[in-house]
This record gives sequence, C-alpha cells and structure tokens, in this order.
Amino acid sequence: MSDRLYIFDTTLRDGEQVPGCQLNTVEKIEVAKMLEELGVDVIEAGFPVSSPGDFNSVVEISKAVTWPTVCALTRAVENDIRVAADALQYARHKRIHTGIGTSDYHIRYKFNSTREEILERAIGCVSYAKKFVEDVQFYAEDAGRTDNEYLARVIEAVIRAGATVVNIPDTTGYCLPSEFAAKIRYLMEHVDGIDRVTIATHCHNDLGMATANTVSGIVAGARQAEVTINGIGERAGNTSLEEVVMTFRSHKELGIDSNVNATRLSGASRMVSSLMNMPVQPNKAIVGRNAFAHSSGIHQDGVLKNRESYEIIDPKEVGVDENSIVLTARSGRAALKHRLHVLGVELDKENLDKAYEAFLRLADRKKEINDDDVLMLAGKQNANHRIKLEYLQVTSGVGIRSVASIGLDIAGEKFEAAASGNGPVDAAISAIKIIIRRTMLVKEFLIQAINKGSNDVGKVHMTVEYEGQPYYGFSANTDIVAASAEAFIDAINKFVH
Ligand code: KIV
Ligand code: ZN
Repeated sequence: MSDRLYIFDTTLRDGEQVPGCQLNTVEKIEVAKMLEELGVDVIEAGFPVSSPGDFNSVVEISKAVTWPTVCALTRAVENDIRVAADALQYARHKRIHTGIGTSDYHIRYKFNSTREEILERAIGCVSYAKKFVEDVQFYAEDAGRTDNEYLARVIEAVIRAGATVVNIPDTTGYCLPSEFAAKIRYLMEHVDGIDRVTIATHCHNDLGMATANTVSGIVAGARQAEVTINGIGERAGNTSLEEVVMTFRSHKELGIDSNVNATRLSGASRMVSSLMNMPVQPNKAIVGRNAFAHSSGIHQDGVLKNRESYEIIDPKEVGVDENSIVLTARSGRAALKHRLHVLGVELDKENLDKAYEAFLRLADRKKEINDDDVLMLAGKQNANHRIKLEYLQVTSGVGIRSVASIGLDIAGEKFEAAASGNGPVDAAISAIKIIIRRTMLVKEFLIQAINKGSNDVGKVHMTVEYEGQPYYGFSANTDIVAASAEAFIDAINKFVH
C-alpha cells in the first residue's frame, strides 16, 4: 500500500493571481467542481478579506463542493481570520490557512520587526484561527530562505498552538531540490510534535524547479503538495498538479500516491486554460499539445513496435483522447456528450439539450467546433439566469450613431427597448439599462478571441459596478456585440434577484 499524498490545489487562489486571468464566481465554481471530480483533497478557494468577489467565491464554492476541504487564506491578522471563518461558514470540511513571513528579508524589510515578535505573531494567528475552525494550516512565507534553526522554532510553536498542517513555501522559487529536501528533513528531525501534523510543500517556479523541489520535499517526508493546474501562478508560476501526480504514479518504487483520477488531467488542463485564457505551452509535460507527439521517424517506429520504447506514460492514462474528434453540424447529441465527458464536463439532460441547441447554432456559423468552443457552450448552460436575452438587433456603420433594439425575458415577462449609442455595444447596453432601470456602470470590458480567424468565438469579460460593488459578467458568442450584451446581463443577474 502506498503512502497517501494529499493534493492541495491553489489554482483559484495563488493561480488566479496571474494578471488578466481572473475568473468570475460562476467560472470559479465550475473549476472547483472539476477539482472535486479530479479527486483533490483541498481546494484553496480564495483570500476572502482581499475583495468582496473573493469572499463571495469562497462562500459559493463552500456550498458547491462536498468532499474536498475548502480552504481560505489569511494574513496573521485577526480581522482576516474572522472574515475567512465567515466565508467558510457553509463548507462541509473547512480549513483556515494563516501565516507570516519568517525569512530575515521579510522580518526586517517587510515587517520592520524581530524574530521574537514574528514568533509571537505566528503563535497568535494559529491560536486565534483555532477559535473558529479545528483544521488550521500555518504557512511560513519565504521558508525557502529562512534559517532552518529559526524555522524549526516557529514550526514547533505553531504546532503547540494547534496547527494541523504546516506549510513550508519556497515563495521565491530559490531553493535547489537537495536544499529543499534537506530543509524538510531538518524539520522532521528537530521539531517536537512534527509527527502529529502534515508537512506541506508550496514551491514556486522562478528557476524552473518547482516540481523538482516539491517531489524532493515529498520524498523527504512532506505529505501535502500545494499545486495548480498547468502550474499557473504569478511570475513563473506554481508547481504543476499534473506533473507531481504523474511523477509519483510513474515511480511506484517511491511508494507514495495521491487520490487523483489521472484520466481527468487533460480535461482539467483544457478547462483552466480556456477559462483563464492562458494557453498551455505545446511542450508542457503531461498536458501540452506535443507531450505525446512523436515526430522523428525513429521514435514513431519505436512507439509503433512497443509504446514503452519511447513513452513512459500511456496518453490514455491522463485522458488524452488520441482519436480526438472535431465536431461539425452533422455531429449528434451523443458526440457532444462524449466530447464533454472527455473534457471533464458532465451536464444533466436539460443542460445538455440547451448546449446541443447552442452547438447547432454555432456549427451553422463555424465549420468546425473545437474543444474550446465545446467548453464555452457547456459553460453557458451553467448559469440559471432570471434575466435572459430574447433578441438583439443592432444597426451600426461609419458616420452614423448605432441603434440597438433589445428584448429581455425577466422571470417569464417580456420587455423591449431601443437606444442609440456611440457604437453597437454602447447602444445595446443603453437599451438594457432602459429596461433594468438601475444605476450601473461598466468598469471593465475585455473582448478576446478564443482561437483565430474571423469566424471565431469572442469571449467578453465585464465588471459592472452597482451600489459600490463590482459584479463580473461573462459570455462568448461569434457575435461580439451579442457576447457583450450577454456578459452585461450575466453581471446584472448577480445583483437583480
Ligand atoms: O508563495 C507563498 O508563500 C504563498 C503563501 C501565502 C502560502 O502563496
Ligand atoms: Zn505562493
């Protein structure tokens, strides 16, 4: 029997800190459900005190998932901890992740403090979090550059204060694999009570060694790996979930394994890449487009004779569908359902029917429907909107003001309005405002193409401010004016009940 490796996924917290990759709450719930299906043990859902959006996402993810522990990040600040506990109120299994920087860089320059004061604050935040939840994880930020002797004192003290998991982050991605393993071994040998807690690794990839450091730390005795899908994260990113999982699955002699259902890895990677609009580099290990593509004649010949001559992983093991099909207008509902399943998305009958209708409309306009399109169609079915777009007609051109006529269905009642604007999107939004009659301001508006080509689907992200709060809206459509109106309506649905 293998030793259990706990997978702590921080795609929705550390991963989501990548500029331009923010998700709205609906999208985060989608990712959280996928992570649950994948079999991760802990989902770090956000940093609740940082924004109302993050707070709300932690609340909604707590309601949406059943098996994984939902974790919320805080600083060593009492108000952060109170807010995190509040955000986690609906979680079936909850954890507060609190901590403070322990390297001399952090102590001197970030906190202008002393080692003794920081030790007291570390004890204080864990003790305070214990008043709200049983499961408290402590992080020693920049542990990678923290003096081992001092780190051991801090870790021993927080274990005494009740920490259940101690996280040893290499925040700056500085460590060498041998150095990081030695640090974990040092703690195991010098910290009283370390056998009562789980040690976690949290390695950044600044020198391209995040996976190597994580694997070394686990082999040295840590049993929780903090990771993100596709290794996304600020700067050079975090440790990639799929690389860690498949390293231990491939090296059975290490006797360590996670609970992850590897056949979902490829679908998970595509979903995160598509929702965050962050392409995966083609040569990325495990999930890159070329990860299993053999182009040299010698390799192709070897693989055909015996796959194992050049492949250490069977692509099917990680959910790569070698017979990947492109859907067209002639594809049936079963083909769409199968493709969604391969991509890690399961829809109930009603939503599958809606997705299929939308698929046929899209297939009429676009010859080939690829995986990103399919994921986009599935995503659109997840919103149970009270306000729906019935129709939109826009006249626009050069030298004239644009005019939009719009029809909305609000809880079964029909409303119509027309308005002009300085462009088609402006006109459509003005017409919607006439019907909704609230003071709303579009604060952010981003249009992105999913693939290439003029027949492509455009994705629209929008932030709408209402009564001082930001609400996120999203839609995708081959018609970018329609996508913009839909994204605006998506945001409105979050505050008009
Ligand atoms: O990199 C880091 O140190 C972190 C902590 C907040 C856990 O993300
Ligand atoms: Zn981090």
